[in-house]
Amino acid sequence: MNDHPLLIEIEALSSKAAKRDEFLMETARAINHQYPQYNWVGFYFAKEGKLHIGPYVGKTTPHTVIELDKGICGAAFNRGKTIVVDDVNTDPRFLACSITTRSEIVIPIRVDGEMIGELDIDSDQKAAFGDDDRILMEKVAELVGETLSRFKF
Ligand code: SME
Repeated sequence: MNDHPLLIEIEALSSKAAKRDEFLMETARAINHQYPQYNWVGFYFAKEGKLHIGPYVGKTTPHTVIELDKGICGAAFNRGKTIVVDDVNTDPRFLACSITTRSEIVIPIRVDGEMIGELDIDSDQKAAFGDDDRILMEKVAELVGETLSRFKF
């Protein structure tokens, strides 16, 4: 797993990262490039009790700020654990960023043990996120957290 091409690419981005948002944007692009079926890939960060959108690739979303008790994003933040939704049409928590989205994964990002944000990925395919996807994206979120610990917030 640790020699997965995506992790190698993101490790390379991490080692040369100079600006936080540039690193996040390049990471989102790398994920979307290696996994084109992940149609929307982006970040949310907690600030003053809400989740605020960070760099992303994919369609423009109306959900630039999400309350902690709303959406799959809010649910994952409250639980502090990854949430995978195989069919967003059956999940009443879902906030639609695109009507074509069918499945979603949201993974918390921690910096020095503190949950500071999330990696959010939507797919137009139903059940696009199996166990292998989840484990890989949790590693990506870990790597992002380690990298962000080098930047001041
Ligand atoms: N679907 C998310 C909202 C964010 S957009 O998908 C980018 C949610 O339900 O929290």
